[in-house]
Amino acid sequence: APGSPALTPPLGWNSWNSFGCGVTETAIRQAADAMVSSGMKDAGYQYVVVDDCWFDPQRDSQGALRANASKFPSGMKALGDYIHGRGLKFGIYQVPTDRTCAQRTGTYPGSTGSAGHEVQDAGTFASWGVDYLKYDWCSPAGSRDEQVARFTVMRDALRATGRPIVYSINPNSYHAITGDKYDWGQVADLWRTTEDLLDIWQNGNTNSYPMGVGNVLDVTAPLAAQAGPGHWNDPDMLVVGRPGLTLTESRAHFALWALMAAPLMAGNDIRTMSADIGAVLRNPRLLAVDQDRLGAGGRRVRDDGAVEVFAKPLADGSVAVGLLNRGSGTTTVSTTAAQAGLAGTAFTLTDLWTGATSSTGGAISASVPAHGVAAYRVSGGSPLAATTSRLRGAGSGRC
Ligand code: DGJ
Repeated sequence: APGSPALTPPLGWNSWNSFGCGVTETAIRQAADAMVSSGMKDAGYQYVVVDDCWFDPQRDSQGALRANASKFPSGMKALGDYIHGRGLKFGIYQVPTDRTCAQRTGTYPGSTGSAGHEVQDAGTFASWGVDYLKYDWCSPAGSRDEQVARFTVMRDALRATGRPIVYSINPNSYHAITGDKYDWGQVADLWRTTEDLLDIWQNGNTNSYPMGVGNVLDVTAPLAAQAGPGHWNDPDMLVVGRPGLTLTESRAHFALWALMAAPLMAGNDIRTMSADIGAVLRNPRLLAVDQDRLGAGGRRVRDDGAVEVFAKPLADGSVAVGLLNRGSGTTTVSTTAAQAGLAGTAFTLTDLWTGATSSTGGAISASVPAHGVAAYRVSGGSPLAATTSRLRGAGSGRC
C-alpha cells in the first residue's frame, strides 16, 4: 500500500503451520531464538508472527484485547520486547470480522474479532510494539466491496497509530474467491492469493482447499504484474521442511516463491529443522532474487505442461530464471536468454543453488529431477525491448 514499510517482500516465520491453535509463548520465544541461532536472522529474516489463538476469549472491561494468560503468561508486550531484544520484529494476527477462523470453526472459544474495534485494537498493537499484522477474513459472508471497506478501516487505523506496521491481509479464508484478479495494492502491503498452502506437491487442478505447491503456483503466477515494492502477492507461508514435501520439492517450492517475489514466511519448526532445510531457507542467492529492489514478479515464459520456465527481471539488468520439472522423471529443461528477455551473444550464468558460474551464448539448459527447479541468474546481456515492458510490468517500482 502507499507508504508501505515493505519495500521488499517480508521475510520471517509464522506459527500456524507448525503450532496451529496450540501456539504458546514458549514456542514463540524458542522460535525467535532459533531464528538467530540457525542463521536465518543473519540471512535477512525479520518477522516472528504469532498466528490465531494467542488472545483471551474475552476482551477486558474496557473492550481491549489481551493475551490468553495461560498460553502467554508474560503478555504480548513482554513477548514483543523479547522478540525485539533478539533484533527481530513482532507480528500478530487478527480478523476484520467477529470471529477468528479458529473461533468460527469452534476450535477456540469467544468472539473477539476486530469488527467495530479497529482503532482500539490498532492502538493496542502499537502499544505492544507490533510491527506486522496478519488480518484474516475468516467469514463465509461478504461481498468484495465489503471486504475492501473492512480491510481499509484497519489500514487507516494502523496508519493513525504512527507506527510502521506491515499490513498482511487474507481475503480468501472461508471465502471462495481464490484466484481472484483483484489488486489489493492500495489497501495492503501483501495479500493472500489463495486458500491455505498445505505440504503437498500438487492436488489435481484445484484452486481451493486443500492446495499444494503446484496449485498455488498456478493461481499466483498469472498475477505477477501486481507485484512491486510495497504491494506483494502472497502465495502463503512456506511449507519448506514440512513433512509432506521431499527435499527436492522443498527446494523447488522455495525457488518458485523467490521467483514470484513472494513474502517468505517459514512455517516449519525451525527449532528442529535439518541442516539441508536450513540451507534452503538461508540460500543467499535465492533470497537476493526474492528481495531484489525492482520487486518484479517472475513471469511464466514457457509452459509445456510438465516443463515450465519462469523469468524475473532484476534491478541490475540481469534476469533470474527458474527451470521447473513438474513431471515424474528427470528431464532436460531448456530456455534461452532471449526467452528470459535478454538480448546479447555472451552471458554469464550463476547457478543459484551452488553459486557456480558458466558462460553461454544464450542457451540455458539443465537436467532437472522430478518436482525440481534449476535456477540461474543470467547476466551480461541487455534487456530485449519487446519483452522488457511486458516482463517488468507493474514491478518497475512505479507505485
Ligand atoms: C486461515 C489462514 O489462511 C491461515 O493462514 C491461518 O491464519 C488460519 N486462518 C488461522 O485460523
